[in-house]
Amino acid sequence: MNYRHSFHAGNFADLVKHALVLWLLKDRQSRGPVTVLDTHAGAGLYDLSGDAQRSREAEAGVARLMTAEARPPLIEALAAEVAALNPQGGVRFYPGSPVLTARALRPEDSYRGFELNPPVQALLTEALAAWPNATGRAGDGYEEAVRAARGVKAPLVLIDPPFERPDDYVRSAETAAAVVGADPTACVAIWTPLKDLETFDGFIRRLEQAGLSRVLVAEARLRPLNNPMKMNGCAMTVVNAPSGAEAAAAEICGWTVQALGDAGGRAEVWRAG
Ligand SMILES: C[S@@+](CC[C@H](N)C(=O)[O-])C[C@H]1O[C@@H](n2cnc3c(N)ncnc32)[C@H](O)[C@@H]1O
Repeated sequence: MNYRHSFHAGNFADLVKHALVLWLLKDRQSRGPVTVLDTHAGAGLYDLSGDAQRSREAEAGVARLMTAEARPPLIEALAAEVAALNPQGGVRFYPGSPVLTARALRPEDSYRGFELNPPVQALLTEALAAWPNATGRAGDGYEEAVRAARGVKAPLVLIDPPFERPDDYVRSAETAAAVVGADPTACVAIWTPLKDLETFDGFIRRLEQAGLSRVLVAEARLRPLNNPMKMNGCAMTVVNAPSGAEAAAAEICGWTVQALGDAGGRAEVWRAG
């Protein structure tokens, strides 16, 4: 297991994912208590003065977010979270999905994140120590999320694998189908890179073949996808997307492409199935 999210934390793809997760969480909260299940939790909180400084991905992502002038509301909401973690100013700390979610929990909500890599899991536990209703657990998130979904009502499930294994696409689609099979009211958000479109099409086809409904695909392509070895775009695919998700995704992807992309970039939100 070589993947280290600390190299990528705060990049454009994290911004798209986290701004939409914040919106999905708030939307879910407006309907009642929420349980968030995070299959691939990562470390929870990232110090961008380490690995991220070497990759320079945060420099092209969250650093530009924080100095941008016209931020639409859902982008502003993420910027406010980043600012709260950096009271001295600047952008040293960036929240992963666990800390971002934990900070937004109300007493009636809860968060369960799963992480397979033991040193990262130790960081996750430490990052969540301040929130009693947020826990980081060791385990295979694909299996654990399905098991957990059987015991809660209407969970919000985030699937965010490293995609360093070829079966991550298949397992993500199968997990989404199994979660919705366990609870048809679950909302599942899956992050994927956009590199090779044939692979992405295969992933969407799998969701369709599983009979999943209300599937919303939000794409942010910073530049044309002409190099399958480079991540020039990303997508968030939301199963059982609530009403309003389309507009939220359009705002988030639109800002990301316009503010961080090249002239050939494109934001697109569409429905599958
Ligand atoms: C992309 S990162 C997660 C980032 C996190 N969701 C966020 O937004 O801050 C993927 C993480 O999944 C972990 N991982 C890989 N395979 C896993 C599995 N089957 N179950 C749980 N965690 C896994 C990796 O160690 C890595 O920390």
